[in-house]
Amino acid sequence: STKTLKLNTGATIPVIGLGTWQSPDEECYSAVLSALHAGYRHIDTARIYQNEEAVGKAVAQYLKESGTSRDKLFITTKLWCSEVQDPEKALKESLERLNLEYVDLYLMHWPVSMVNRGDLFPKTASGTTEIIPFDKWNYVETYKIMQKLYKAGLTKAIGISNFNIPKIDYLLAQSGVDVVPACLQVEIHPYLPQFDLVDYCTKKGILVECYSPLGSTGAPLLKDPALIKLGEKYGVSPACIAISWAVARDTIPLPKSVHEERIVSNLKVVDLADEDISLVDAVSKTTAKRLVKPEWGVDIFGDSAKL
Ligand code: A2P
Repeated sequence: STKTLKLNTGATIPVIGLGTWQSPDEECYSAVLSALHAGYRHIDTARIYQNEEAVGKAVAQYLKESGTSRDKLFITTKLWCSEVQDPEKALKESLERLNLEYVDLYLMHWPVSMVNRGDLFPKTASGTTEIIPFDKWNYVETYKIMQKLYKAGLTKAIGISNFNIPKIDYLLAQSGVDVVPACLQVEIHPYLPQFDLVDYCTKKGILVECYSPLGSTGAPLLKDPALIKLGEKYGVSPACIAISWAVARDTIPLPKSVHEERIVSNLKVVDLADEDISLVDAVSKTTAKRLVKPEWGVDIFGDSAKL
């Protein structure tokens, strides 16, 4: 799909992006290069994926080979939890690894602050992740610094990831928060459609990006009978149905693959009839499931704004 959506900054975002979580360096390089050659214009990475250098190399190689200009691509990276107290340093280091002058979107990866010991997963003596308590440092302070990075042009947009409604509400209500996040990236697929969160974001002018649109490792959604049946009806794979459903909702799926034929096929979208969108909407009634659940000793998806 060459469809784009408009961010609240005025910029456009290609509706399908290549996900790169769990794509190790070497595979990531060829995945990104294949994706760009296949027509993807949107790549999603993060500090914690530890593949920013590979993404940067593939982007540079593609720009060189194709003569495409940088501004035709949309590149996202994310601020990791142990670096939230110095987002400027973190973004500059990401840009260096990516070999870019700016990113199109910089997301706060989690509403969680970890102690910075130069270690991505700082641990306490007892082996638990070392979290900074909310009253000492929290995502509001992090976000206010990210606003400055946006205003300085190091990133063309800022956003958040893994926030729920109470946390977004809390963030938007704080004085000094004057840039509405351009995007929210969360887990979304037919088993976790997040109807309320998507409605809430639409009202606030926040676009929603879907990670794990196929259900993450093992792509469990591809075995879902409703998706298989719809795939047969449209003559496409169940993956294509899941991706087309996300696109039909004006959300932004980020399917991950390191296999060229899958990368190519995941860019294909069919125009689902309203009744078929409803059939996919109904899948979660019997199979509601969150598939990505980090254990950091804080209730990230709970109702409290303050972790
Ligand atoms: P691989 O990278 O080996 O192709 P998600 O995007 O939900 O995180 O899911 C990605 C998972 O599904 C990955 O394990 C990926 O594996 C696999 N995958 C991605 N696209 C397809 C596809 N079109 N058909 C089958 N499996 C796929």
